[in-house]
Amino acid sequence: MDYQAPRGTQDILPEEQSYWRYVESKAAAIAARYGYSRIDTPTFEDARLFTRTVGEETDIVTKEMYTFQDRGGADLTLRPEGTAPVCRAYIEHGMASQPKPVKLYYLASIFRYDRPQAGRYREHHQFGFEVFGESDAAADAEVIDMAWSLYRELGITTLPVQLNSIGCPECRAAYLAALKDYYSTCIDTLCGDCKIRYGKNPLRLLDCKKPDCSVAASKAPHSVDFLCPDCKAHFDKLTAFMGAIAIPFEINHCLVRGLDYYSRTVFEIQPREEGAQSTIGGGGRYDNLIPQLGGEPTPAIGFATGIERIILNLKRQNIVVPALESPRFFLAALGEAAFIAAFKLAADLRRDGIPMFESLASRSLKAQLRQASGLGARYTLILGDAELEKGEILLRDMTSSEQRALPLDGLVSALKAL
Ligand code: HAM
Repeated sequence: MDYQAPRGTQDILPEEQSYWRYVESKAAAIAARYGYSRIDTPTFEDARLFTRTVGEETDIVTKEMYTFQDRGGADLTLRPEGTAPVCRAYIEHGMASQPKPVKLYYLASIFRYDRPQAGRYREHHQFGFEVFGESDAAADAEVIDMAWSLYRELGITTLPVQLNSIGCPECRAAYLAALKDYYSTCIDTLCGDCKIRYGKNPLRLLDCKKPDCSVAASKAPHSVDFLCPDCKAHFDKLTAFMGAIAIPFEINHCLVRGLDYYSRTVFEIQPREEGAQSTIGGGGRYDNLIPQLGGEPTPAIGFATGIERIILNLKRQNIVVPALESPRFFLAALGEAAFIAAFKLAADLRRDGIPMFESLASRSLKAQLRQASGLGARYTLILGDAELEKGEILLRDMTSSEQRALPLDGLVSALKAL
């Protein structure tokens, strides 16, 4: 074969679809229950939307974006995350005039030129949700509660929520200075990337998974110790809410997230199993993103989870998902005249709203029955030349193998009554 799906992408074959439908339907049901409306944004955006918001120095912007110039010379990027596009749409469509909070969710494909491995792809899909216009920590707690409920209802066992507050730009300045002071004492032990991060984005030093860098990060000053009174009160209120709704959490002082737009709350959720790719979902508050894009000051918080990683964990944790509904009726034709009549009958029945499968070629009855049971059909309708002459059709119950004749006249109501 000359062609294969591009590296890091996957075909979602029919036998996998039950997982996808299950996760997507649970996501949509939970979103409806928490009062979110669906939004879909374009697959590509102006490249600057991401460089400005996700951050010039982040891995996403420096190494992972699919950016190209279109034939008109515009620089476009396949969306590497869902939050900035939703913020862009929020501003562009004047959603600030709607009653607050405005709650939006999306199911979208995301593109990152990452090193592919289990659970890490170049095209993946996210279920994400964003809340605009509420600064109270109750909004943070509700977003975490919704994420937590999603995994619980899917049956995925997770570790306690990893939680941190990275403060607002004001209190973070003092924290960054303390961080740089601390790292100046051990800069020689850091990896090459971290030596660059030290100068450009010291917060990201806490994120590095290399052993020596992790050791250094574990002894670094904690952002929560540098919070200004407002940020501290916000974080205390959030942890109180989390306690009230009994969501287990741990404060992870090294949690800073891989995108630059966060302020105050950041959080991540991991499944029970350990592993480098184990984060299934993450989010946080981004009160400065909307104004950064030219909108009115609007506090906001959100979360996103990778659907492939959810499915990976459903499989790892042996969770059985509901099978997709199999066809109820299969129409088998026997004989030349009956074949044409059956083809017309199947078309008529479908127009009347009855899903109908057929073999599209004259085959033996045995072959057609085999096809019907392979598809999981509940009933097979059998039309032979003899039945056609009598104005009848045979109805075969595929479970009991019992057969009975039905008049072709009034067949639609007879089938609908089954
Ligand atoms: P993120 O942590 O970059 O956050 O991605 C969210 C989730 O997408 C991850 O936890 C993971 O499950 C999945 N994911 C990320 N990269 C890959 C990949 N290469 N292959 C497979 N799955 C992946 C965001 O994107 C933020 N926009 C989340 C957010 C929403 N923050 C506020 N609102």
